[in-house]
Amino acid sequence: MKLPSLNIANFAASFPLIQGGMSIRVSTSALAAPVASNGGIGVIGGSGLPPEELHNDILKAKKSSEGVIAVNIMYAMKDFHQLVMASIDAGIDMIITGAGFSRDIFKIGKKHNTPIVMIVSSPALARLAEKLGAAAVIVEAKEAGGHLGTDKPLRELFPPIRDVIKKIPLIAAGGITTGYEMAEMMDKYGADGVQIASRFVLSKECDIADSFKQTYLDAKKEDIVLTSSPVGMPGRAINNAFVKAMNSGEDVSTKRCAYVCIKKCSHLYCINERLNLARKGDTEKGLFFSGENSYKMKNILSVAEIFKQFRQQAESVYKEDKGFLPAT
Ligand SMILES: Cc1cc2nc3c(=O)[nH]c(=O)nc-3n(C[C@H](O)[C@H](O)[C@H](O)COP(=O)(O)O)c2cc1C
Repeated sequence: MKLPSLNIANFAASFPLIQGGMSIRVSTSALAAPVASNGGIGVIGGSGLPPEELHNDILKAKKSSEGVIAVNIMYAMKDFHQLVMASIDAGIDMIITGAGFSRDIFKIGKKHNTPIVMIVSSPALARLAEKLGAAAVIVEAKEAGGHLGTDKPLRELFPPIRDVIKKIPLIAAGGITTGYEMAEMMDKYGADGVQIASRFVLSKECDIADSFKQTYLDAKKEDIVLTSSPVGMPGRAINNAFVKAMNSGEDVSTKRCAYVCIKKCSHLYCINERLNLARKGDTEKGLFFSGENSYKMKNILSVAEIFKQFRQQAESVYKEDKGFLPAT
């Protein structure tokens, strides 16, 4: 059965899939625009970019696609407010935020008529986000890549949040690699859509070094591990030489902070520098954020092929055509 569209505020994605934001130039307009053109919500990772670069990349994405384009900005960033305003100035369709909780963002969203989508990992924060005016909530579980707000798996974390969120769309994120799992989350767990990131790292359009993608393709289950981040949250990444050194207590810090990018940086290492090294393909020194299940994916596909595969798989098993219907 055909999957319903994902309706967030006045925006409708014809296929209920959000491509997860991946910062430090992993998800740029090069990826977000084709995702949006294929009917999903394309997300530019905004954290750690100079506001002007983010502004220009949003303009580029909006020019290349008529679909829905969002930006993901972590509240932990020092220039959170500047990045939000640069995105609004560029005409972003919606702002997705997490890694901390901003109450002010809802006032800004309201003032500029920009929907705010909150990433949460608990029923309490989900309820608060809805109360403050979130247009949708994303439930991100421990299987996700990047920073983690919980150690609970998706199928355990999602139901109690589904129980408290009734008026706005609720989206499931973390470890989804096939359309079958997408349909399961929507059909059995009542999600209004899914957010997926690691699958899109392994897309032709993702504008990163080939060796980044090869690191994913080579990874086995046991190579995807938990590690620490100077943001003060655990993170999930591939266990390369850098992560092994850090996890064994070696000093991996940078002596001079070149970015001054995080509100409360622990200076354990420079995350901006390490993520940039990964994007450029330094397999030894870079930090390769990855979802727990990326080892299951063994091919690089175009964005159109990923959508085709997800649609075929999901619609072959999806039964309930409930979806989220905005209150009238
Ligand atoms: C390389 C990479 C970078 C990420 N960067 C961010 C980020 O900047 N902000 C954020 O909220 N989530 C980030 N995430 C999390 C994703 O947006 C997404 O919610 C999560 O990875 C979903 O799980 P999956 O990768 O198993 O599909 C990142 C994930 C990956 C794999």
